[in-house]
Amino acid sequence: MLSKKMEKALNAQINAELYSSYLYLAMSAYLDSEGYAGMAQWMRTQYQEEEFHAMKMFDYVSERGGRVILKAIDAPKATWKSPENVFTETLKHEQLVTSLIHKLVKLARAEDDYASESFLRWFVDEQVEEEATADAILQKVKMVGKTGNALYMLDKELGQRVFTPPAKEE
Ligand code: FEO
Repeated sequence: MLSKKMEKALNAQINAELYSSYLYLAMSAYLDSEGYAGMAQWMRTQYQEEEFHAMKMFDYVSERGGRVILKAIDAPKATWKSPENVFTETLKHEQLVTSLIHKLVKLARAEDDYASESFLRWFVDEQVEEEATADAILQKVKMVGKTGNALYMLDKELGQRVFTPPAKEE
């Protein structure tokens, strides 16, 4: 059984993951409106990934006999300055999420909740990947700058991304 404190914190993280999905969907809409169809597709995939994160946590709370309480999701902003600005903010946002996940691990330890600590390890690892991916794309976007052809190729490359849910661990 989850402690009330842990249950509340996991519920807050479900909200944070849903906000992340909403934020990336807003970025997708912006990129699409600016003609970056590939980057828009990449962000749409990111939106699905965040939804997956939220649902993974949702299922865990239920599994541990907790109660999921959904709260309002904040509205993300609608406009950015450029693709570079979008990916700069993506990296910043992922760094924030990493700090939230680390706080949850700290709480699990303080509560002697070994099951939650073990469950959260997946998210700790996932955040390493999330930050590295956002950083790698940001570097590429910076590198190509406003060079039409290179930017077009990068947009095309990012458009290849599709969502594949991670295989369920046995
Ligand atoms: Fe669910 Fe991108 O962190």
